[in-house]
Amino acid sequence: MSHDSTFKTIMVALGVCLVCSILVSTTAVTLNEKQEQNKKRDEIKNILAAGDLLQDNREDFLQIFQERIQPQIIELASGTPLPESEYDKNFTPENFNIKEIAKSSQYSTPLEADQDIAQIKRKPKYMIVYFVKKEGTVEKIIVPVYGRGLWSTLYGFLALDKNLKTVRALTFYEHGETPGLGGEVDNKSWKAQWDGKKAFNDTGELVLQVLKGKVDPSKPGAESQVDGLTGATITTRGVDQLIKFWLGENGYGPFLAVLEKEGANEQE
Ligand SMILES: Cc1cc2nc3c(=O)[nH]c(=O)nc-3n(C[C@H](O)[C@H](O)[C@H](O)COP(=O)(O)O)c2cc1C
Repeated sequence: MSHDSTFKTIMVALGVCLVCSILVSTTAVTLNEKQEQNKKRDEIKNILAAGDLLQDNREDFLQIFQERIQPQIIELASGTPLPESEYDKNFTPENFNIKEIAKSSQYSTPLEADQDIAQIKRKPKYMIVYFVKKEGTVEKIIVPVYGRGLWSTLYGFLALDKNLKTVRALTFYEHGETPGLGGEVDNKSWKAQWDGKKAFNDTGELVLQVLKGKVDPSKPGAESQVDGLTGATITTRGVDQLIKFWLGENGYGPFLAVLEKEGANEQE
Protein backbone atom coordinates (compact mmCIF):
# COMPACT_ATOMS: atom_id res chain seq x y z
CA MET A 1 0.00 0.00 0.00
CA SER A 2 1.41 3.41 -0.93
CA HIS A 3 2.09 5.95 1.84
CA ASP A 4 -0.44 8.43 0.43
CA SER A 5 -3.37 6.06 -0.17
CA THR A 6 -6.85 7.47 0.63
CA PHE A 7 -7.46 4.69 3.17
CA LYS A 8 -4.30 5.54 5.12
CA THR A 9 -5.11 9.27 5.11
CA ILE A 10 -8.59 8.59 6.51
CA MET A 11 -7.21 6.24 9.19
CA VAL A 12 -4.62 8.83 10.32
CA ALA A 13 -7.33 11.56 10.42
CA LEU A 14 -9.64 9.29 12.47
CA GLY A 15 -6.79 8.41 14.84
CA VAL A 16 -6.01 12.10 15.43
CA CYS A 17 -9.73 12.81 16.03
CA LEU A 18 -9.98 9.96 18.54
CA VAL A 19 -6.91 11.08 20.52
CA CYS A 20 -8.12 14.70 20.55
CA SER A 21 -11.64 13.80 21.68
CA ILE A 22 -10.25 11.64 24.53
CA LEU A 23 -8.01 14.55 25.59
CA VAL A 24 -10.85 17.10 25.45
CA SER A 25 -13.35 14.95 27.38
CA THR A 26 -10.77 14.01 30.05
CA THR A 27 -9.92 17.68 30.54
CA ALA A 28 -13.62 18.65 30.68
CA VAL A 29 -14.37 16.01 33.34
CA THR A 30 -11.33 16.99 35.45
CA LEU A 31 -12.12 20.71 35.18
CA ASN A 32 -15.78 20.14 35.96
CA GLU A 33 -14.86 18.59 39.32
CA LYS A 34 -12.51 21.50 40.05
CA GLN A 35 -15.21 24.00 39.07
CA GLU A 36 -17.72 22.32 41.40
CA GLN A 37 -15.17 22.46 44.23
CA ASN A 38 -14.49 26.13 43.57
CA LYS A 39 -18.23 26.89 43.48
CA LYS A 40 -18.66 25.19 46.85
CA ARG A 41 -15.76 27.17 48.35
CA ASP A 42 -17.19 30.36 46.92
CA GLU A 43 -20.59 29.58 48.40
CA ILE A 44 -19.02 29.00 51.82
CA LYS A 45 -17.17 32.33 51.57
CA ASN A 46 -20.44 34.07 50.74
CA ILE A 47 -22.26 32.55 53.69
CA LEU A 48 -19.40 33.67 55.93
CA ALA A 49 -19.53 37.16 54.38
CA ALA A 50 -23.27 37.38 55.14
CA GLY A 51 -22.49 36.36 58.72
CA ASP A 52 -19.65 38.94 58.91
CA LEU A 53 -17.19 36.10 59.52
CA LEU A 54 -15.02 36.40 56.44
CA GLN A 55 -11.76 38.07 57.31
CA ASP A 56 -9.57 39.16 54.37
CA ASN A 57 -7.13 36.59 53.02
CA ARG A 58 -7.89 34.06 55.75
CA GLU A 59 -7.04 30.60 54.46
CA ASP A 60 -8.86 28.90 57.32
CA PHE A 61 -12.33 29.93 56.17
CA LEU A 62 -13.41 26.27 55.90
CA GLN A 63 -12.50 25.80 59.54
CA ILE A 64 -14.39 28.98 60.53
CA PHE A 65 -17.41 27.65 58.62
CA GLN A 66 -17.25 24.33 60.44
CA GLU A 67 -16.84 25.93 63.84
CA ARG A 68 -19.38 28.71 63.54
CA ILE A 69 -22.04 27.69 61.01
CA GLN A 70 -24.63 24.99 61.48
CA PRO A 71 -26.59 24.22 58.29
CA GLN A 72 -30.05 22.71 58.42
CA ILE A 73 -32.46 21.62 55.68
CA ILE A 74 -36.01 22.79 56.37
CA GLU A 75 -39.38 22.08 54.81
CA LEU A 76 -40.55 25.53 53.70
CA ALA A 77 -44.32 25.02 54.13
CA SER A 78 -44.12 23.89 57.76
CA GLY A 79 -40.85 25.63 58.64
CA THR A 80 -39.66 22.50 60.43
CA PRO A 81 -36.27 20.80 60.01
CA LEU A 82 -36.06 17.78 57.75
CA PRO A 83 -35.02 14.85 60.00
CA GLU A 84 -31.55 13.55 59.19
CA SER A 85 -33.08 10.09 58.67
CA GLU A 86 -34.66 11.54 55.50
CA TYR A 87 -31.36 12.71 54.02
CA ASP A 88 -30.02 10.56 51.24
CA LYS A 89 -26.75 10.72 49.34
CA ASN A 90 -28.13 13.31 46.91
CA PHE A 91 -29.86 15.40 49.52
CA THR A 92 -27.67 16.58 52.38
CA PRO A 93 -26.63 20.05 53.61
CA GLU A 94 -23.25 19.50 51.88
CA ASN A 95 -24.67 19.00 48.41
CA PHE A 96 -27.91 20.98 48.69
CA ASN A 97 -28.29 22.72 45.32
CA ILE A 98 -30.83 25.54 45.24
CA LYS A 99 -30.93 25.80 41.44
CA GLU A 100 -31.48 22.06 40.98
CA ILE A 101 -34.21 21.99 43.63
CA ALA A 102 -35.94 25.05 42.18
CA LYS A 103 -36.37 23.41 38.79
CA SER A 104 -37.12 19.85 39.90
CA SER A 105 -40.75 18.74 39.81
CA GLN A 106 -40.01 16.38 42.72
CA TYR A 107 -38.67 19.12 44.99
CA SER A 108 -40.63 22.21 43.94
CA THR A 109 -44.16 23.26 42.96
CA PRO A 110 -45.39 25.94 40.53
CA LEU A 111 -46.26 29.31 42.07
CA GLU A 112 -49.51 31.10 41.19
CA ALA A 113 -48.84 34.40 39.40
CA ASP A 114 -50.18 36.50 42.29
CA GLN A 115 -47.88 34.70 44.75
CA ASP A 116 -44.80 34.84 42.54
CA ILE A 117 -43.71 38.35 43.45
CA ALA A 118 -40.02 37.40 43.17
CA GLN A 119 -40.66 35.95 39.67
CA ILE A 120 -39.07 32.61 40.41
CA LYS A 121 -41.88 30.50 38.88
CA ARG A 122 -41.54 27.57 41.31
CA LYS A 123 -41.50 27.26 45.10
CA PRO A 124 -38.92 24.86 46.52
CA LYS A 125 -40.32 22.34 49.01
CA TYR A 126 -37.07 22.43 50.95
CA MET A 127 -34.47 25.06 51.66
CA ILE A 128 -31.22 25.21 53.54
CA VAL A 129 -30.71 27.66 56.39
CA TYR A 130 -27.56 28.44 58.37
CA PHE A 131 -27.36 29.15 62.09
CA VAL A 132 -24.39 31.32 63.05
CA LYS A 133 -23.21 30.20 66.46
CA LYS A 134 -20.95 31.68 69.09
CA GLU A 135 -20.04 29.62 72.15
CA GLY A 136 -23.00 27.34 71.53
CA THR A 137 -25.69 30.01 71.20
CA VAL A 138 -27.29 31.26 67.99
CA GLU A 139 -26.20 34.78 67.00
CA LYS A 140 -27.76 35.08 63.56
CA ILE A 141 -29.70 33.08 61.01
CA ILE A 142 -28.64 33.20 57.35
CA VAL A 143 -31.15 32.27 54.67
CA PRO A 144 -30.67 31.97 50.90
CA VAL A 145 -32.79 34.36 48.79
CA TYR A 146 -33.25 34.79 45.06
CA GLY A 147 -35.46 36.60 42.57
CA ARG A 148 -35.59 38.29 39.21
CA GLY A 149 -33.94 41.65 38.51
CA LEU A 150 -33.82 43.23 35.05
CA TRP A 151 -31.45 40.93 33.16
CA SER A 152 -31.01 38.06 35.56
CA THR A 153 -32.01 36.17 38.67
CA LEU A 154 -30.11 37.50 41.67
CA TYR A 155 -28.91 34.88 44.19
CA GLY A 156 -27.86 35.90 47.67
CA PHE A 157 -28.01 35.46 51.42
CA LEU A 158 -29.95 37.44 54.00
CA ALA A 159 -28.72 37.43 57.58
CA LEU A 160 -31.20 38.06 60.38
CA ASP A 161 -30.37 38.81 63.98
CA LYS A 162 -31.27 36.22 66.62
CA ASN A 163 -34.22 38.47 67.55
CA LEU A 164 -35.66 37.35 64.14
CA LYS A 165 -36.74 40.93 63.41
CA THR A 166 -33.59 42.86 62.53
CA VAL A 167 -31.63 42.44 59.29
CA ARG A 168 -27.88 42.03 59.73
CA ALA A 169 -26.80 41.76 56.06
CA LEU A 170 -27.86 41.20 52.48
CA THR A 171 -25.27 39.99 50.02
CA PHE A 172 -25.60 38.71 46.45
CA TYR A 173 -23.15 36.15 45.06
CA GLU A 174 -24.55 35.78 41.56
CA HIS A 175 -26.40 38.11 39.19
CA GLY A 176 -26.16 39.52 35.68
CA GLU A 177 -27.30 43.10 36.30
CA THR A 178 -25.45 46.01 34.66
CA PRO A 179 -22.29 47.17 36.44
CA GLY A 180 -22.84 50.71 37.76
CA LEU A 181 -26.66 50.35 37.59
CA GLY A 182 -28.34 47.17 38.91
CA GLY A 183 -24.84 45.83 39.63
CA GLU A 184 -24.63 48.35 42.49
CA VAL A 185 -26.23 45.64 44.64
CA ASP A 186 -22.56 44.75 45.24
CA ASN A 187 -21.63 48.27 46.32
CA LYS A 188 -20.22 48.19 49.86
CA SER A 189 -21.97 51.32 51.09
CA TRP A 190 -25.34 50.25 49.67
CA LYS A 191 -24.94 46.85 51.33
CA ALA A 192 -23.94 48.48 54.64
CA GLN A 193 -27.38 50.10 54.89
CA TRP A 194 -29.05 46.76 55.52
CA ASP A 195 -27.40 46.17 58.89
CA GLY A 196 -29.90 47.15 61.60
CA LYS A 197 -32.97 47.56 59.38
CA LYS A 198 -36.17 46.38 60.99
CA ALA A 199 -37.79 43.66 58.88
CA PHE A 200 -40.87 43.14 61.07
CA ASN A 201 -42.67 45.61 63.31
CA ASP A 202 -43.83 44.88 66.84
CA THR A 203 -47.05 43.27 65.63
CA GLY A 204 -45.06 40.92 63.35
CA GLU A 205 -45.97 42.67 60.09
CA LEU A 206 -43.31 42.58 57.34
CA VAL A 207 -42.29 46.23 56.89
CA LEU A 208 -38.88 46.02 55.17
CA GLN A 209 -38.80 48.03 51.94
CA VAL A 210 -36.37 49.07 49.23
CA LEU A 211 -37.50 52.52 48.10
CA LYS A 212 -37.44 54.05 44.64
CA GLY A 213 -35.16 56.89 45.74
CA LYS A 214 -33.44 57.81 48.99
CA VAL A 215 -34.56 57.15 52.54
CA ASP A 216 -35.49 60.27 54.51
CA PRO A 217 -34.21 59.51 58.03
CA SER A 218 -36.57 62.09 59.54
CA LYS A 219 -39.68 60.29 58.26
CA PRO A 220 -41.47 57.48 60.12
CA GLY A 221 -40.60 54.06 58.73
CA ALA A 222 -36.99 54.99 57.85
CA GLU A 223 -35.77 52.25 60.22
CA SER A 224 -37.25 49.69 57.79
CA GLN A 225 -36.24 51.34 54.53
CA VAL A 226 -33.22 51.01 52.23
CA ASP A 227 -32.22 53.38 49.40
CA GLY A 228 -33.10 52.32 45.86
CA LEU A 229 -30.30 51.92 43.30
CA THR A 230 -29.80 55.03 41.18
CA GLY A 231 -30.93 54.53 37.55
CA ALA A 232 -31.88 50.92 38.25
CA THR A 233 -35.55 50.96 39.14
CA ILE A 234 -36.16 47.43 37.91
CA THR A 235 -33.33 45.82 39.87
CA THR A 236 -34.40 47.87 42.91
CA ARG A 237 -37.96 46.58 42.61
CA GLY A 238 -36.61 43.05 42.10
CA VAL A 239 -34.64 43.22 45.36
CA ASP A 240 -37.64 44.69 47.21
CA GLN A 241 -39.90 41.93 45.93
CA LEU A 242 -37.50 39.04 46.52
CA ILE A 243 -36.99 40.14 50.12
CA LYS A 244 -40.76 40.34 50.60
CA PHE A 245 -41.24 36.92 49.03
CA TRP A 246 -38.60 35.15 51.10
CA LEU A 247 -39.60 36.75 54.40
CA GLY A 248 -43.28 36.13 53.68
CA GLU A 249 -45.63 33.17 54.10
CA ASN A 250 -44.39 31.39 50.95
CA GLY A 251 -40.79 31.83 52.01
CA TYR A 252 -39.30 31.61 55.49
CA GLY A 253 -42.42 32.93 57.32
CA PRO A 254 -43.36 29.51 58.77
CA PHE A 255 -39.70 28.78 59.69
CA LEU A 256 -39.37 32.11 61.53
CA ALA A 257 -42.67 31.41 63.33
CA VAL A 258 -41.31 28.01 64.47
CA LEU A 259 -38.10 29.65 65.75
CA GLU A 260 -40.06 32.37 67.52
CA LYS A 261 -42.21 29.77 69.26
CA GLU A 262 -39.14 27.73 70.27
CA GLY A 263 -37.53 30.90 71.67
CA ALA A 264 -40.68 31.76 73.62
CA ASN A 265 -40.87 28.20 74.99
CA GLU A 266 -37.22 28.32 76.05
CA GLN A 267 -37.88 31.45 78.06
CA GLU A 268 -40.92 30.00 79.85
C1 LIG B 1 -27.55 49.40 28.77
C2 LIG B 1 -28.54 49.58 29.88
C3 LIG B 1 -28.42 48.82 31.00
C4 LIG B 1 -29.33 48.92 32.06
N1 LIG B 1 -29.20 48.13 33.16
C5 LIG B 1 -30.13 48.21 34.15
C6 LIG B 1 -30.04 47.38 35.30
O1 LIG B 1 -29.13 46.58 35.49
N2 LIG B 1 -31.03 47.49 36.22
C7 LIG B 1 -32.09 48.36 36.07
O2 LIG B 1 -32.96 48.39 36.93
N3 LIG B 1 -32.15 49.18 35.03
C8 LIG B 1 -31.21 49.13 34.06
N4 LIG B 1 -31.31 49.95 32.98
C9 LIG B 1 -32.31 51.01 32.99
C10 LIG B 1 -33.70 50.50 32.73
O3 LIG B 1 -33.82 50.21 31.38
C11 LIG B 1 -34.72 51.57 33.18
O4 LIG B 1 -34.60 52.68 32.35
C12 LIG B 1 -34.47 51.99 34.59
O5 LIG B 1 -34.58 50.89 35.43
C13 LIG B 1 -35.44 53.09 35.04
O6 LIG B 1 -36.74 52.66 35.02
P1 LIG B 1 -37.97 53.68 35.16
O7 LIG B 1 -37.91 54.55 33.93
O8 LIG B 1 -39.16 52.82 35.24
O9 LIG B 1 -37.73 54.47 36.41
C14 LIG B 1 -30.40 49.85 31.94
C15 LIG B 1 -30.50 50.64 30.79
C16 LIG B 1 -29.60 50.52 29.76
C17 LIG B 1 -29.77 51.36 28.55
